[in-house]
Amino acid sequence: MARRRQLYEGKAKVLFEGPEPGTLVQYFKDDATAGNGVKNGIITGKGVLNNRISEYLMLKLHDLNIPTHFIKRLNMREQLIREAEIIPLEVVIRNIAAGSIAKRLGIEEGTRLPRTIIEYYYKNDSLGDPMVSDEHISAFNWATPQELDDMNGMALRINDFLMGVFSSVGITLVDFKLEFGRLWEGDEMRIILADEISPDNCRLWDSKTNEKMDKDRFRRDMGKVEEAYQEVARRLGILTESNNGDHQGPEAVQ
Ligand SMILES: Nc1ncnc2c1ncn2[C@@H]1O[C@H](COP(=O)(O)OP(=O)(O)OP(=O)(O)O)[C@@H](O)[C@H]1O
Ligand SMILES: [Mg+2]
Repeated sequence: MARRRQLYEGKAKVLFEGPEPGTLVQYFKDDATAGNGVKNGIITGKGVLNNRISEYLMLKLHDLNIPTHFIKRLNMREQLIREAEIIPLEVVIRNIAAGSIAKRLGIEEGTRLPRTIIEYYYKNDSLGDPMVSDEHISAFNWATPQELDDMNGMALRINDFLMGVFSSVGITLVDFKLEFGRLWEGDEMRIILADEISPDNCRLWDSKTNEKMDKDRFRRDMGKVEEAYQEVARRLGILTESNNGDHQGPEAVQ
């Protein structure tokens, strides 16, 4: 069988050409980076867990009529997605101060923000993904004001949904990062949620102990990184004792 064409290899995922035009296969690696590639490592089993967690959350978003790129999971590490024209922004939604906002504004980590705050970062590794405002976004044509409005609306709905899902399993959603893309259907274009939702791009704290259950454990060398990702999956009801193995090769689609 001919090897399918690899289109892009990122830090956490590989994109392959999909079986139909307009589709891609997203392969989830165990590789982890932090500080824009300064810190590199492997979180064993992360790819398998992120594939499942992102599938679970995107299917639920679909049920809420929030359009996403997700089509179906193909096997332990791969999912079939709709190819989108990625808008070069990282949209960050913050409920509680942590990470860069805590440092930049001198707010103690863990402080609840007066309200949910949305930030935008320009996706550009060589510039270190700098923070930008809606003025930059429209002036440089990265997205139109209408598109930005659509993204904000979706981001807030996704936040409400995720806060509920996580709080029901004893997890506080501190903040998270989303990527959106344009999907063309004939002359019609709509904005869809792309990339992934996983402990790689969410800050998740145990509601009782405030223990971190996300990539900050890797960023800050806190140990028990694999265990934290597994615990998130387990609480969501995704991981059972029998299916936490990492099998090679394609598996039956459920
Ligand atoms: N539906 C989609 N269509 C096209 N590209 C997508 C889609 N969903 C995600 N992508 C892109 O696929 C890549 C996923 O790889 P990965 O997350 O490893 O990248 P990365 O190293 O984080 O780099 P980047 O800064 O580009 O996100 C990202 O560039 C992301 O923007
Ligand atoms: Mg990425």
